[in-house]
Amino acid sequence: MSLSLPDISALLLRRGNAQYGDEAVSQLQHALQSATLAEQAEESPETIVAALLHDLGHLIVAERDGVDEPDNRRDELHQFVVLPFLRGTFPEAVLAPIRLHVDAKRFLCATEAGYEAGLSPASKASLALQGGAFSAEEAARFITQAHAAEAVRLRRYDDQAKVPGWQGPDLTHFEPYMARVTTTAMASQ
Ligand SMILES: [Fe+2]
Repeated sequence: MSLSLPDISALLLRRGNAQYGDEAVSQLQHALQSATLAEQAEESPETIVAALLHDLGHLIVAERDGVDEPDNRRDELHQFVVLPFLRGTFPEAVLAPIRLHVDAKRFLCATEAGYEAGLSPASKASLALQGGAFSAEEAARFITQAHAAEAVRLRRYDDQAKVPGWQGPDLTHFEPYMARVTTTAMASQ
């Protein structure tokens, strides 16, 4: 069930023109902006790849359901849906920040004054579907997990990666990062 690197690129290019929820950018634009912000912050290649692929689950759901746009009235659990497709292709250092990026938003809402107020309207709406802000106890438990810190940083890139008309590197710039961190020898050929 794992996607190869060419499968992942093809999915991003095929489905990436869909609008990113109610945001003003496409899914592919959002992925590229997120990865670029991670790269500019000198994140590890694994975290840059996680930033690129953190919302791939939305594209998998769209492909599965044969729809162009996700249904924003329900939580697709995209952070989990994507995992079986990536598990054989990337290490835990890529998978964990993807898995945790929704909870990272719930963590930041609980621990950082003003964070929730600064979220985009679409992100506030999905927060409610995703369970809302963590309690203090849930937040304390969340941040002890491996790769939770990377997930929180990824979340900040995610939040900023919604700029309409942004110009930056295209997918070919990030394919070498995926090839570098993949655990599948064949996929890197
Ligand atoms: Fe995102």
